[in-house]
Amino acid sequence: MAVTWTEAAVVSRSAATPDIAVIDLAPVAGAAFPAYTAGAHIDVLIGSGLVRQYSLCGPPEQGAYRVAVLNEPASRGGSRAMHALKVGDRLRISAPRNRFPLVTARRHLLFAGGIGITPLLAMVRQLEHERAEYTLHYCARSRARAAFVRELAGDPRVAFHFDDEDPGQPLDLARDLGDPRPDTAVYICGPDGFMDHLLRAAETLGWPQQALHKERFGDPPALAGPAGNGTGAFTVRLASTGAEYLVPEDRSVLDVLLENGVDAPFSCQQGICGTCVVRVLAGDPDHRDDVLTDDERAEGLFTICSSRAFSPVLELDLT
Ligand code: FES
Repeated sequence: MAVTWTEAAVVSRSAATPDIAVIDLAPVAGAAFPAYTAGAHIDVLIGSGLVRQYSLCGPPEQGAYRVAVLNEPASRGGSRAMHALKVGDRLRISAPRNRFPLVTARRHLLFAGGIGITPLLAMVRQLEHERAEYTLHYCARSRARAAFVRELAGDPRVAFHFDDEDPGQPLDLARDLGDPRPDTAVYICGPDGFMDHLLRAAETLGWPQQALHKERFGDPPALAGPAGNGTGAFTVRLASTGAEYLVPEDRSVLDVLLENGVDAPFSCQQGICGTCVVRVLAGDPDHRDDVLTDDERAEGLFTICSSRAFSPVLELDLT
């Protein structure tokens, strides 16, 4: 159930801004990469065991995978390692997965915060190809530090909102998001503060959850901390074997299963990629992911890397 890794080579590398590297990856063995759809991401295995997710932002038909990586000084090393890559270097990647696809709608409203432009750029190209109606709002601290501005400039369906421009065009959500419309799908991607601001505003304006499609960059909030059952510890029971494992307050279900030799699927370990999703058969889950929809949670889906339990025992289907 582990991720299958494919070797890829860096075939091109350029600087979109002083902080953002655009990296093109091509297959090493000659076989083509799997096709992907707008909004998809790949996992990249960096060095010994560090796994990071990057959205694919290049045109899908080119045969290479293009990612754009922000160099974040506060990161745990992933972005630094990616920025150190040179043409000819090799690394291992997963097949693309898409937890953030375009949906069927008459009108599409897209909101990008900073490096959150990457999946939305692929979406805009796809919508353009389909001659669909869309508007992209692209927010960043400054024009000089925003990637792909040149590619998007001049498109009347793209509005830039740069904090440092005077006169600028600040994002006005009463105007730019507006009241809910049943024919409209909203896509939001960016860092935590941006996401929280947009999602709060959407809720205030009355947008239903089903209309909001989101992908968060960086660590999702509220993944840490004790579970809601008082002690923080709980027991996981696997339906397939009946085996029970104690999950201490400071360990995840995934940690405990792997330590006990259970072959559990995982990738990001941050509750954002969906690789580790299993089904809850009994117990009361305390969801702490940022990937499952309310409907998926109601169906019993659960991320073992980040979520916990309100009940003393959680029974999982890990087949
Ligand atoms: S491993 Fe990515 S959501 Fe759990």
